[in-house]
Amino acid sequence: MTMDKPAATALPGADYFDQWYADIAGSTSRDAVVARLLGLPAHLRSTGLLTWQGIAEVTDRLRLPRGGLLLDIGCGRAGYGIEIAHRTGARLIGVDFSATALRQAESAAMERLPAGRAEFHVGTLLETGLPGAAADALMCVDAVQFAEPPLAALHEFRRLLKPGGRLALTCWEAVGPGDPLVPPRISAVHLLRDLTRAGFADVDVRERPDWRRAERTLWEAVAAQCDPDAAMLALQEEGRRSLETFGSLRRVFATATAP
Ligand SMILES: C[S@@+](CC[C@H](N)C(=O)[O-])C[C@H]1O[C@@H](n2cnc3c(N)ncnc32)[C@H](O)[C@@H]1O
Repeated sequence: MTMDKPAATALPGADYFDQWYADIAGSTSRDAVVARLLGLPAHLRSTGLLTWQGIAEVTDRLRLPRGGLLLDIGCGRAGYGIEIAHRTGARLIGVDFSATALRQAESAAMERLPAGRAEFHVGTLLETGLPGAAADALMCVDAVQFAEPPLAALHEFRRLLKPGGRLALTCWEAVGPGDPLVPPRISAVHLLRDLTRAGFADVDVRERPDWRRAERTLWEAVAAQCDPDAAMLALQEEGRRSLETFGSLRRVFATATAP
């Protein structure tokens, strides 16, 4: 059964995402199709759109010290955070407001990381509930657009990082102002402006047309899948909407340093 979609302007809440993750867990094909098209290994469960090559770039720019603390905020099932913790030897704390996603994250971490290296907490993008100035690095993959407003999440991210701690965000922004095709939550994302306003240094926001091309390939392939279950139907619907507005959005990769 597909879930009711939230109103076009409302941001989806935790109940929406709980059902979304339950549908994904019940799908026989969704994760395999997404992993194949993003070039990810089958064990890496993502609901973002970061490719295998993208993970290497995020890892590189987080500059994590071995044994350092990595936060994955809006982690979902934390496939990306777990992979980066595995590569770097970092400790991982994931935060999301979907308890259903976090249960899936916990079982994925048990398979991939030594015991005690990862923990997961229910919290929001604006109020993670974590102590301040404790993290060496923070990643937020394809989630900051759900913060209301994104600037408040960036303030929270800065609070969590130690001085010199590194931030990596992937998201989308409008190509131009006032475009009615751009969803309101994406219109609210201005990473260069807001990372600077939140007090970050070394702010670097890059457009990633190659990542955007990988996304198009994914959406086109997903549209051709037959006999979709609930999770695949939701993915097809997301892909249809993305392709309709494709030229109005750009894919961005932002990094910054906490002062
Ligand atoms: C597109 S998914 C990305 C998940 C994960 N980062 C990944 O790439 O696999 C967006 C995530 O943001 C979470 N989310 C949305 N709004 C949130 C909020 N206000 N507070 C905490 N998490 C939120 C959702 O539950 C979901 O897991």
